[in-house]
Parts: sequence; structure tokens; C-alpha cells
Amino acid sequence: MHFLKSMVGRKIVMAVSGLMMVLFVVAHLLGNTSIFAGPNAINAYAMKLHELVPLLWSYRVVMIVMLSLHFFYGIQLTLENNKAKPQAYTVKKSLSATFAGKTMIWTGLILGAFLVYHLLQFTFQVTNPEISADRNLDPLGRPDVFHMVVLTFQKTLISLIYVAAMIALAFHLTHGIQSFFQTLGLNNDRTLPVIIKSGTVAAVIVFLGFIAIPIIIFVGILKG
Ligand code: HEM
Repeated sequence: MHFLKSMVGRKIVMAVSGLMMVLFVVAHLLGNTSIFAGPNAINAYAMKLHELVPLLWSYRVVMIVMLSLHFFYGIQLTLENNKAKPQAYTVKKSLSATFAGKTMIWTGLILGAFLVYHLLQFTFQVTNPEISADRNLDPLGRPDVFHMVVLTFQKTLISLIYVAAMIALAFHLTHGIQSFFQTLGLNNDRTLPVIIKSGTVAAVIVFLGFIAIPIIIFVGILKG
């Protein structure tokens, strides 16, 4: 309990929960790329995931806990930082003074809102029920995730929402990765430039990987 009351303790919780979510995002991106191999690949992949019920639910519970901790302490630390602004700035001037650093709370809230929308869309499939994968099975009787995703990103507004959310993700990740190393005390004058560069490069790769899907579908390269 004392650990969670201290600033350092809460920052470590933010760093660890953030890392778990980054690992999820990378795994999710790799899984999503199966869409480029066509309907069979992504429908088989989705089916496999859903068959691993105990594993799927254990990971979901862990992720819900991580997300809740990250959300709660993220808001709490931002409010505390804002109250003690002059001090906060002198302590971590180099990283927090960037655009990505100053907008962490906003990009985080945008991602939270995006996640709610995304889960309603692809997991619960309630936003566009007419193209729901669970209601439209493929010729092999599996939920047709391929057509659900393709028909979704043929809609302009939805594609725009995704690109906007991925921009927020890129900024959040850029600062988040740098902040992770700062919290663990791994940054010094020598490593800081390398950490800043690698964080930015990693965020750009994730960004490009995710927006490739709506863009390739929207411009008609990948069709249903
Ligand atoms: C173009 C980008 C994306 C596409 C095409 C996509 C696609 C999907 C699909 C099809 C599912 C449902 C999987 C299934 O139940 O069979 C899903 C679930 C999910 N997505 Fe995404 N996703 C994208 C971006 C993201 C991002 C950026 C995040 C996180 C910030 C994210 C977080 C999740 C989560 C948490 C789930 C629920 C996983 C579960 O069922 O436990 N997605 N996504």
C-alpha cells in the first residue's frame, strides 16, 4: 500500500502496465497482418484465438487489470503534476516538455474512447450488426472476421476515426516508451538520445502497421 502511495511506486505501476499493453498492441498488430493473406488466414486465426478459451480469458482479466491501473494512476499522477507544476517541470524537463509528453493525458483519453468503440465494433459487434462476423459465417462455417473488417473500413468515417486514433497511439507510445526507461532509471546523458530515437521509431512502425489496414481497404487494394 505504501508502494502505491509513493510517486515512484505509482510510476512503476504505470511503466509495467504500459509495457504489458505495448506487448499486447504488438501481438495484436502481428495477428492483424494475417488479413493481408486473405479471408482464410484471418478467419482461421480468429477461430484459433476463440478456441483457447481459458487462455483468452486469463489474458483478458490481466489486461483489464493493467488497463484499469494505467487509467487510474495516469489520471491521478497528471492531476498531482498539474498542481505541483513548477517542480514537475524542473525534475523531468527534457522528456515532458515535448508535444507528446504534454499531451499524454489527452492521447490516453482518446485511446480509451477508441478502445470502447473498437470493442463494441469488433468484439461485441454491436455498432454495425449487419456486417457482424458472428452473424455472417464464411463458407467453412467460421465467423467471417475478414468481411467484417473489410466492410468496416470501406466506410469513410470509420476509417478516419481509426487513423485519428492511431495518430494518438503514435504520440502516446513515443512518450510512453521514453518514460518507461526514465522511470526505471535507465536514461542518462549518453542513453537519452538513443532512447528518444528508438521510442519514436517503434511508435512510427506500430502506427504505420495499424493504419496500413484501413488505408489498404479504403483505397480498394484489399477487397471483400
Ligand atoms: C487497424 C487497426 C485494428 C484492427 C483492424 C483491429 C482488429 C480487431 C479485431 C478484428 C478484433 C476482434 C478479434 C476477435 O475477437 O476475433 C479486435 C479486438 C481487439 N482489439 Fe483491435 N484492431 C486494431 C487496432 C487496435 C488497437 C490500436 C488496439 C489497442 C490500442 C486494439 C485493441 C483491441 C482489443 C483490446 C481487442 C479485444 C481482444 C479480445 O477479444 O480480448 N486494436 N481488434
